Amino acid sequence: MTNIKSRSLPKNRVFSGAQPSGNMHLGNYLGAFRNWARLQQDFECIYCVVDLHAITVWQDPADLVRQTREAAAAYIASGVDPKRSILFNQSRVAAHSELAWIFNCVARMGWLNRMTQFKDKAGKHRERASVGLYVYPDLMAADILTYKATHVPVGEDQKQHLELTRDIAQKFNNDYDREVFPIVEPLISKEGARIMSLRDGSKKMSKSDPSDASRINLTDTADSIVQKIRKAKTDPEPLPEDVAGLDGRPEAHNLVGIYGALTDKSMEAVLKEHGGTGFAEFKKTLVDVAVAHLSPITGEMARLMDDPAEIDQILSDGAERAAALAAPVMEEVRETVGLIGRHTY
Ligand code: TYM
Repeated sequence: MTNIKSRSLPKNRVFSGAQPSGNMHLGNYLGAFRNWARLQQDFECIYCVVDLHAITVWQDPADLVRQTREAAAAYIASGVDPKRSILFNQSRVAAHSELAWIFNCVARMGWLNRMTQFKDKAGKHRERASVGLYVYPDLMAADILTYKATHVPVGEDQKQHLELTRDIAQKFNNDYDREVFPIVEPLISKEGARIMSLRDGSKKMSKSDPSDASRINLTDTADSIVQKIRKAKTDPEPLPEDVAGLDGRPEAHNLVGIYGALTDKSMEAVLKEHGGTGFAEFKKTLVDVAVAHLSPITGEMARLMDDPAEIDQILSDGAERAAALAAPVMEEVRETVGLIGRHTY
């Protein structure tokens, strides 16, 4: 078989998504949403609310509907423009599920067995985890490759999943001797890629942490943000003068990182300005910056959530546009795999 070039590989197409599992937080915003908004300047962008990923763990159906709208509202409030970019929820475009099945047949058990996120989420009860949770990374690869996306902006925790996406694309192209899928590039920003819990600097800020005080939710009031930062865990030492001085001080590292990400400054620059300051004072400065930055987002999310029909319309329009992009790719995949008659191009 000769290597047949793919029909078309877009050069600059971004895809990313977040699970609508409730409690969108500052980590999602700084690690992902804010970058998604910025990338709209230079890329054709597709942003998805990945509801099929969310149901790999139990979701109450009524909550899921609301959380899906809330995730879409968070994207828009963070600067994603649903006219310029495509914004939709995953389950509305069946191509994701179809390609995920094909990728279940491409990915190897050994590859999935290495996924640290599955190990973390399944914990000690692997046997009781859903099969969906195990093949979760295959669906993620399908999300991206259904659109032949080239760049994927994510936080640090998704790096391993994107390596798997690259492996799947490579194996598919090799197996069928045809360059169907691009090898995606992760886009992980330096500041904000790994925001940690406010209660424990060694754990990442997470939607599923039982302690609400561990995270700043994008729906938190200004008062609540003030309280959470005031109570954030710290150590008794003042801030160091340089980044090396943050070694072994995970909570201090995290607060300096959050401040830097919110003000678009490197950690070095933050410490140049605030080195030697005690936490009581630094936290006041951080509170001011966080409230000023997040209040407009919270306000816009609340406004959008007041009109669920408008959000549903945006998601439905986005799904139609996404499905139109996915259709020729799926046609090519079905022909390549031999699920429908193959033509020569
Ligand atoms: P999810 O829903 O856990 O998170 C959404 C995005 O937020 C980032 N993020 C963080 N960044 C910095 N610090 C944190 N504490 C933090 N917590 C979360 C995540 O890295 C992510 O970028 N599997 C994905 C969703 C997904 C996806 C995709 C992403 C499904 N299909 C295709 C990209 C492309 C997830 O669970 O993200």
